[in-house]
Amino acid sequence: MNTFTQCHDPVMSPPSETKGFTVSSSCQSQRLLEIKFTQETVDAFLEAVAQWPVQALEYKSFLRFRVGQLLDELCGGTLRPFLIGTILDRTTGGMLITPVGLSDVTQADDMVKFSSAVAHLVGRSNFDAMSGQFYARFVVVNTDNSDSYLRQPHRVMELHNDGTFMRERTDYVMMMKIDEQNMDGGNSLLLHLDDWEDLQHFYGHPLARREMRFTAPPSKNVREDVFHAVFDSDAEGRPTMRYIDQFVQPKDFEEGIWLNALSESLENSPQKLSVPVPIGSFLLINNMFWLHGRDRFTAHKGLRRELMRQRGYLSYQKNLYQGGQ
Ligand SMILES: [Fe+2]
Repeated sequence: MNTFTQCHDPVMSPPSETKGFTVSSSCQSQRLLEIKFTQETVDAFLEAVAQWPVQALEYKSFLRFRVGQLLDELCGGTLRPFLIGTILDRTTGGMLITPVGLSDVTQADDMVKFSSAVAHLVGRSNFDAMSGQFYARFVVVNTDNSDSYLRQPHRVMELHNDGTFMRERTDYVMMMKIDEQNMDGGNSLLLHLDDWEDLQHFYGHPLARREMRFTAPPSKNVREDVFHAVFDSDAEGRPTMRYIDQFVQPKDFEEGIWLNALSESLENSPQKLSVPVPIGSFLLINNMFWLHGRDRFTAHKGLRRELMRQRGYLSYQKNLYQGGQ
């Protein structure tokens, strides 16, 4: 069964046969695909991994790959090649993934297991210094005194890449919605680099390749500064980006003014997507050519949102990936 349907005309070839999940392009953009796992697949997966609590996945790294394998097997081996092909495909590289039936905060552990399985089919999630685990769960409430915009609800978290102040590669970012109460607003914001109308203007500027200093605030538990340029290119010469407004430290007037202009251009881009992520769903994007952020919420004293994130590097056998861009 070919399960490709679309909200818009596809910009890519339909994936080959899939089993256990369906694929469509999202209504926000042809670049963002929507993946839905059937309830049957999700139930069978949860039964297969019931023997391992989340703690087992925390303690034994290799079990994360085993749960990924179990999910892929339930999908007849069609899932892993599809995920790898999509995350590497420059024309898409972004997915909104929904495991049908996982939609309540009481299933949070199952959500972590499911998303960990997906992440470990494309690579490996890095150690998250904020949580001390390979993933981080965090709560946003109406009041917050944190030292970055991550948990501050009433303002936009501007477009950025993740992992800019870390030494490890951060090829992918996964963001899952575990809970949401009394929420008005707060959509995920996304921008594909190739949709950004000012990309060539900034990518071609002499400062694009100048090393700049990136420093994390104390809550990130990362003490060392990291130096790299805002722009780079991939093996095929296409622009990639490692940028975040809050942690880049311009050393002088010239860098500061250039970074400010870049920030304003990104924030004002009409190509920015606003994507609602339902409870139990998660975004999986290529961090090299997708920027992400979060729209503001409306204040509410009962506001609660819980999120989970994983970031890591892509790792795959070449024979699993044929095609794509
Ligand atoms: Fe982020």
